[in-house]
Amino acid sequence: MLLHRIEEVREKIKQWKKEGLSVGLVPTMGALHAGHLSLIKKAKETCDKVVVSDFVNPIQFGPSEDFDKYPRTLDADVNLCENEGVDIVFAPSANEMYGEGQRLSNDILTYVCPPFFYVNTLCGKSRTGHFDGVCTVVLKLFNIVQPEYAFFGQKDAQQVIIIKKMVKDLNVPIQIIQCPIVREDTGLALSSRNKYLSEDGKKDALVLSKILNNIKSCYKNGITDVDALKETAYNFLTDKHDMEYLEIVDKNTLENKTKADNNSIALIACRVEKVRLIDNIYLE
Ligand code: PAF
Repeated sequence: MLLHRIEEVREKIKQWKKEGLSVGLVPTMGALHAGHLSLIKKAKETCDKVVVSDFVNPIQFGPSEDFDKYPRTLDADVNLCENEGVDIVFAPSANEMYGEGQRLSNDILTYVCPPFFYVNTLCGKSRTGHFDGVCTVVLKLFNIVQPEYAFFGQKDAQQVIIIKKMVKDLNVPIQIIQCPIVREDTGLALSSRNKYLSEDGKKDALVLSKILNNIKSCYKNGITDVDALKETAYNFLTDKHDMEYLEIVDKNTLENKTKADNNSIALIACRVEKVRLIDNIYLE
């Protein structure tokens, strides 16, 4: 069932809660791919009812980012969701979410602002305000849908860590379930932004997973010095790659490390054909 209005969703949820049914939320920005479907499958296994939100959230995009050209494929998304047995696809307009004609700015609207360290490292360094926008919309979706469980992909590892932090700090009574990265057979992590890449670009993009896999195998072979592990990336990079960051940090707190250990995660952001791609791997 496709719903656009908050009140319609609330009505349905109220009915389910009366019947004692558990609700799972899969927040998405649409352009659904197999990565999203894995979250939906997990939600179906875990909960009686599943809601997928499909909303390209304007407040998590910077002024020079791809909000306008972000792929919007609602009809196809709804078909995929119906095939997976999703109960509600919630696709609100920006007016429905943030108010009619509202200027979307934090001097007018209440935003959720996670701690500085979490939002100003890794992706946050180049995407000022991004995680405030993500947490704000996610908390709004949590309040609208009131799920027992919400499902997020490990591909956006920093996002999941920040959402878990928000849920803990604000006592949000929802269990966050993190699901593994889904990859093409080539190793490329699935992302809605892969649609921007040419066939050659997709080949060049394999460098992200190659660098991460190599770091993991070097770690398994006994190299723990973070600088030495990061250095290995240069064996893979060419002039087709515009690296934004490669870091090895604590998988729960994002704190920097000098020595990698089994709690470490390696994360990379790199532009290929001007498309900003991210990926990560647990070293354990
Ligand atoms: O990961 C995403 O697609 C978005 O950041 C999310 C969580 C749906 C919030 O808009």
